[in-house]
Amino acid sequence: MAKTIKKGERISNGVERVINSDTIKYLGKQVKVSGWVDSVRSHGKIIFIDLRDMSGIVQLVNTSDIAKEIRPEWVIEAVGKVSKRPPNMVNPKIETGKIEISIENLKVLSKAKTLPFSINGGGYEINEEKRMKYRYLDLRRKRMKRNMIERQRVIQFIRDFLQKDSFIEIETPILTKSTPEGARDFVVPSRMQPGKFYALPQSPQQYKQLLQIAGFERYFQIAHCLRDEDPRGDRQPEHTQLDLEMSFVEQKDVMRLTEDLFINLVKKLYPEKKIQEIPFPRLTYEKAMKKYNTDRPDLCKNKNNPDLLAFCWVIDFPFFEKDDKNKWTFTHNPFSAPKPEFMNSLLKKKNIKNILTTQYDIVLNGSEIGGGSIRNHESKALEAVFEIIGYKKKDIKDKFGHMLTAFQYGVPPHGGIACGLDRFLAMMLGEKSIREVIAFPKTGDSRDLMMDAPSEISEEQLKELKIKVIKKSKK
Ligand code: AMO
Repeated sequence: MAKTIKKGERISNGVERVINSDTIKYLGKQVKVSGWVDSVRSHGKIIFIDLRDMSGIVQLVNTSDIAKEIRPEWVIEAVGKVSKRPPNMVNPKIETGKIEISIENLKVLSKAKTLPFSINGGGYEINEEKRMKYRYLDLRRKRMKRNMIERQRVIQFIRDFLQKDSFIEIETPILTKSTPEGARDFVVPSRMQPGKFYALPQSPQQYKQLLQIAGFERYFQIAHCLRDEDPRGDRQPEHTQLDLEMSFVEQKDVMRLTEDLFINLVKKLYPEKKIQEIPFPRLTYEKAMKKYNTDRPDLCKNKNNPDLLAFCWVIDFPFFEKDDKNKWTFTHNPFSAPKPEFMNSLLKKKNIKNILTTQYDIVLNGSEIGGGSIRNHESKALEAVFEIIGYKKKDIKDKFGHMLTAFQYGVPPHGGIACGLDRFLAMMLGEKSIREVIAFPKTGDSRDLMMDAPSEISEEQLKELKIKVIKKSKK
């Protein structure tokens, strides 16, 4: 028998902590377990506690007064002997359902208030703002735990797959200069250079291209991308991409690699799912618009079957389109190369509306889960793109001079892609919103309700940054 511990001490009787799912290996032995009280049931003199840790649930039993005051979500530590449950008490639904632990010592490590909402069940019915405010509690929910674990499994698979194929993972800066990806930039004021601002990356586009010039040939990153745009079900101001770039490749090479990655990932991690068509069908933008009236068609032949995955590629997008001010803008990515047969038009800035880009988008059941292109590695042609979209020579030099300079020192032909991990995961896990697969997502108006961000900063900080805030006048 372990000695009874004094109040305030952790149980240290030489017994090592055993995680709940492992307790079944200790039949007849004494173990120490720790975790959260999932539920307490009192049957006359006997008290049953379901103890939850990261690995699952284990049942603790107590017949003395020691467990009487225990409440759900308290954090406790218990020492006791593992024994078989009587046959009528076996719970086949949990891994440890055949055993229980008779508490000998019990210690409360931390008490808990009643939670603001229930963490049993899916939680979809609970007000989402409340779930976000107490996200650390919402993440205790089984479904949310599973989503986070799945996220990690997918990322791990991607890392293994690409590393085996000679890709190298390189982190790129978060404090950087704006890269146009079609959204507004989040900006960060510089203290050391007052009046100047960093932009947070909308994607690592320029860095990954510069890494090709540096000679890395095969780069990838699980990259955070920040875009000041209105969040919706499939859009967050901060999302994660599998970002990759390769040298000495053509369109078909990047597409094949991406396709292989998704096929292998689905087969290994989600074998219950079926890919409708391999190789993934390819549609031109023109055909997609004519036939489906969208550039991300849902080709799924059986909409009632959530396990059917209809991947497809959309290619041959127009490079430019007119914006609402009737000015030319790029449809996808200004760094893309045109299809080779349109290079002359681009250089001459003629037939602009007919120029097609090497852009390829990957679509899954009607959701755009990735996009990339072969890049324009000729300075003259890149300058032509910026001129078409209305940049003056000086703007081009100020904004992209570093790229044009880099292009003078030996550029391999290169191309790449970025896949939206949040969107892909939401689809794999049958979640309607990407917020369900992100640990700490933001609300529809881009707030973090738990941290209360964005928030005001002190006068002192503003002074240091030489920033004056103009307060909105009350009407
Ligand atoms: P793009 O802007 O198409 O390409 O982004 C790539 C993929 O990222 C996902 N995505 C988002 N997911 C959630 N919230 C958002 N706000 C959001 N924005 C984009 C989408 C999208 O397909 N630099 C290029 C890639 C390249 O050419 O290599 C880029 O970022 O699934």
